[in-house]
Amino acid sequence: MKLWGKQKLWRNALPVICAAMLTLYSSCAGRQSALDPAGPQSLRLSRMWWLMFWVCTVVFILVMAALCEALRRARSRARPEVEPIAERKITKVIAGALGISAVILFILMIADFMTGRAVYSQPQNALQIKVYGRQWWWEFQYGDPQPSRRVTTANEIHIPVGRPVMLQMTARDVIHSLWVPNLHGKTDLMPGYQTTMWLQADRPGTYRGQCAEYCGHQHAHMAFLVVAESNEQFNAWFENQCRAAHSPIDASQQRGQQLFMTRGCVMCHQIRGTNAGGRLAPDLTHLASRQTIAAGTLQNNHDNLGNWIADSQHVKPGNRMPPSGLNGEDLQAIVSYLENLK
Ligand code: CUA
Repeated sequence: MKLWGKQKLWRNALPVICAAMLTLYSSCAGRQSALDPAGPQSLRLSRMWWLMFWVCTVVFILVMAALCEALRRARSRARPEVEPIAERKITKVIAGALGISAVILFILMIADFMTGRAVYSQPQNALQIKVYGRQWWWEFQYGDPQPSRRVTTANEIHIPVGRPVMLQMTARDVIHSLWVPNLHGKTDLMPGYQTTMWLQADRPGTYRGQCAEYCGHQHAHMAFLVVAESNEQFNAWFENQCRAAHSPIDASQQRGQQLFMTRGCVMCHQIRGTNAGGRLAPDLTHLASRQTIAAGTLQNNHDNLGNWIADSQHVKPGNRMPPSGLNGEDLQAIVSYLENLK
């Protein structure tokens, strides 16, 4: 090791390691990342991640240092003046390394066990939400003893900051997996079987979630948003979601509603307060209050909504919605009707 110069090696390596760590830390902040935890569950998982990262980093550096030392000795062994290392010393080093490995593995096992216990604990006073995974979107139902207050929405949930949210999940077709990296790890949704997980947001924000289990053609376009907000904001949002859909307020919207009810949209979509009662596709009662459409694929704005209704297959090939075949005027009418569903 003297040939390399221990100090020189550290002097060169340390800034590189520090720069890499800083980049990793800063690039995760504010993004969809398990390393930017926003709740107790993700905090536990990220602590576990960092513990493993640092332990493995130190072990890797030590192993590489030992390898360099072994190579150096192998080269200098050819020289007669260098004394070979005694057998006993080698045995001691190997026994020491084995002992350290066992201790490290034991520490990691205990940390893993404690993290698992904490993550699967049962929270008090949790908000109950049922989640249904479908190809390729998410259906969410807020539980309430009063049937009129059981809100159904799609691809976006709002939750109050600081309160645990229990998700009871199942799949309607194939296996999916729900993952909001900033709030928790992944949990599978399986047809005919219920899985649960709870998460909590400790600071307000919009956290992107996505499907984390390959589920077909549009698996990558199966995202959703978790909007964490203050109790007052959440209650206001929830009260609005409990209401029936707004009625059309002008002739164009009236025509849009009429078209919606007669052109086959009602076969799949539900709009509470109207005759549209389909349960195969997203509930559109408050569609205009959502930030995205097509399961997080597009921003929810006038142009995107029009393009999506005109030919959703162009945007998300293989999805279950057929092209509408509407002319320009009819399309405008339907879009203006849906844009009123705040
Ligand atoms: Cu659903 Cu991947």
